[in-house]
Amino acid sequence: MRISVLPTADAVADAAAAVVSGVVAAGRDLVIGLPTGRTPVGLYARLRTAPVDWSRLRTFNLDEFEGLPPSHPGSFRRYMDQHLFSAVGLPASQIGFLRGDAADPVAECRRYDQAIAAAGGLDLLVCGLGANGHLGFNEPGPVLWAATHVATLHPETRTANAGLFGGDVAAVPARALTMGMTAILRARRVLVIATGRSKAAAVAAMSGGPLTTSLPASWLQVHGAVEVLLDPAAAALLAPTAVSR
Ligand code: GLP
Repeated sequence: MRISVLPTADAVADAAAAVVSGVVAAGRDLVIGLPTGRTPVGLYARLRTAPVDWSRLRTFNLDEFEGLPPSHPGSFRRYMDQHLFSAVGLPASQIGFLRGDAADPVAECRRYDQAIAAAGGLDLLVCGLGANGHLGFNEPGPVLWAATHVATLHPETRTANAGLFGGDVAAVPARALTMGMTAILRARRVLVIATGRSKAAAVAAMSGGPLTTSLPASWLQVHGAVEVLLDPAAAALLAPTAVSR
């Protein structure tokens, strides 16, 4: 795991945008996994105006709330339309997304894994980190799931996502569809971005703790190509020796 601590959250967004732009500029057909949340807002703001050729890119987002249609203001699909897809004119044919309102969520999860596999897997996965160490909506628990699946959200995760629902935690769906650990760990390259003190414990455990289902992000330690971009607050509990540069 290559860990960089940058001076500010804006610098994290700058560096993450440079990584994504650089990968896309490599010039071949690419498949990128994308996150939602507050952390990537700055990244998407930069990508909206970056000289990126989106025409050969396919995207797959990590997760979506169960029950929400893409048009719902709290949906991750709506978030992505607002923060990136509409602004860069990405056509629907290039966008992979879980349908939260699928009549058969289990079949929808299977369809998603098949679509990711048919696309050749993820060349780059950009992901944030839950304060509890979740990746996508792979929540801490006694087990983790390999495949895309329906996950029950922890109370703190629903609270963390309440901003999308006008601050009303009760309005946050109790479950979500999420990529499983296979799609995440098979991504050829993973870029983790985390900012703020609330992420510091999860960051430290992710990079230096035991592999445990109690902290899903700890499994990134088995991946050979993970880059982590942090601001100083998110890095506050890291051992100095953990930082690469
Ligand atoms: C959310 C999303 C994750 C995201 C994480 C952190 O619940 N499912 O994909 O990375 O929690 O969100 P934030 O960036 O708002 O802290």
